[in-house]
Amino acid sequence: MSLRPSQTTQNLPKTAIAAVDVVLDTAYQNISTAQWEDLFSFARKAKLPEFIADMFAGKHINQSEDRPALHSALRNLSKDPVLLDGKDVMPAVSEVWHRIEALCNKWVGVTDVIHIGIGGSDFGPRLAIEALAHVSGIESHGMRMHFLANIDTAELARILNRALPHSTRVIIVSKSFTTLETTMNAKAVAAWLKENGLTNSQISKALYAVTANVPAAKAFGVEKDHIFPFWDWVGGRYSVWSAVGLPIALQYGFKTFEEFLAGAHAMDVHFRNAPLEENLPVIMALALLHQQEKHHIKAYSAIPYADALDWFPKWLQQLDMESNGKSIGKDGKPVKHSSPVVFGSAGSNAQHSYFQLFHQGPEIIPIDFIAVRKPMSDRPEAVAHHRILLSNCLAQAQALAHGKSADNPNDVYPGKRPSNLLLLPELNAFYLGALLALYENRAATLGALWNINSFDQPGVEYGKVLAKPIEKALSSGESNIQASDSIDAVTAARINLLNQ
Ligand code: F6P
Repeated sequence: MSLRPSQTTQNLPKTAIAAVDVVLDTAYQNISTAQWEDLFSFARKAKLPEFIADMFAGKHINQSEDRPALHSALRNLSKDPVLLDGKDVMPAVSEVWHRIEALCNKWVGVTDVIHIGIGGSDFGPRLAIEALAHVSGIESHGMRMHFLANIDTAELARILNRALPHSTRVIIVSKSFTTLETTMNAKAVAAWLKENGLTNSQISKALYAVTANVPAAKAFGVEKDHIFPFWDWVGGRYSVWSAVGLPIALQYGFKTFEEFLAGAHAMDVHFRNAPLEENLPVIMALALLHQQEKHHIKAYSAIPYADALDWFPKWLQQLDMESNGKSIGKDGKPVKHSSPVVFGSAGSNAQHSYFQLFHQGPEIIPIDFIAVRKPMSDRPEAVAHHRILLSNCLAQAQALAHGKSADNPNDVYPGKRPSNLLLLPELNAFYLGALLALYENRAATLGALWNINSFDQPGVEYGKVLAKPIEKALSSGESNIQASDSIDAVTAARINLLNQ
């Protein structure tokens, strides 16, 4: 497959740069040339270029877990060797690509796919399936692709009511293969297959797994040939590029999956090689850092003006906040800055929800406006509607930047509210891949600038540990639970309320 070279975009505003045909315009960041120079020199002092080189070279930048963060190898379509402790990982990566392609050709007559996974094992493929559904002419294998994440049985019941058991395939996706939501949902779906008359051998034919814990998947009953491995050097939230992205290939064809990887790879090549001053992920990271220094911002928002990208902010929340929502730096000391709260949803819907606060609230919340040049349908109304969508996007950014004075204080818009414009030529697999890799590389850059390890997530474990004795207390049915070492008085009272 050929990699698309970055084209120069004509009529680029002076404040904009383009890479992989994605345009970033920072005009409304209100950062002077001198301030940009300071930001770039800070990045150099923080040894950002060395960090980028180390990341791609497979150095153990995830120092708390003593591993590299090599998700870029999963989309390395150049197949140039990527050395992990002296050994090239690309043969193993390519073998999984071949297996994914083979599976796409094999699944004939499948009506339903139930993809079971949560967090990083869910957001990426779910986003991609939604984001690409509108692409005209995209190959579609016409399967109903169901995503089962929550332990809440509402989702399970909804899916099992629709799926046809004898033509369903189940993909259990879990890096650790120990995540309770996933293993319990997988057991429930296997039980449903049995209830519907499938024999044990038919059930094992229907089950597939994507995991870094192959022994656990085998112990669960998944056949060896049905297990797609990935590796501990891929963080869960960076794993859509592995076989975690199987739904993309199964539904839209292997070529589409390859395009998705190609877009991300092109963005990696840019991130790795472009000077800091022309580097999209770096510029976006530095702009955010500037707003943290200047306005002490505590939140930022990503608003894609594309319904198809409505899942993007949810994917981004895990990426940014699980990667960089930390108070302690790599040196064990408190950090000055870390991830702001991230939120967003598709524009223009979002305008009719929380934009009031963007315009007139007391907090300054930087925004990434994400627009797509090409309309996202071929309806006769598409061009006219799309023009309105884009006008809204541009108008909001302008209003936020300049504000408006008025005699009535209620009508004053303070302005000076920073934003980026990101413009994609179209929303297809290639540019979706480029967009996600742009934000992944931005998260890594921010981690490097803040001195945070972006690739572990120790903060999510404690709640999981505490849930165990609480679940035991709930299952006892007793309504006189007393406070103990693992259950405090407030929680004990709540358990007693639930057990009544
Ligand atoms: O609880 C957080 C987390 O560990 C995420 O980092 C991860 O994406 C998710 O759970 C699911 O984990 P797994 O893929 O191991 O089931």
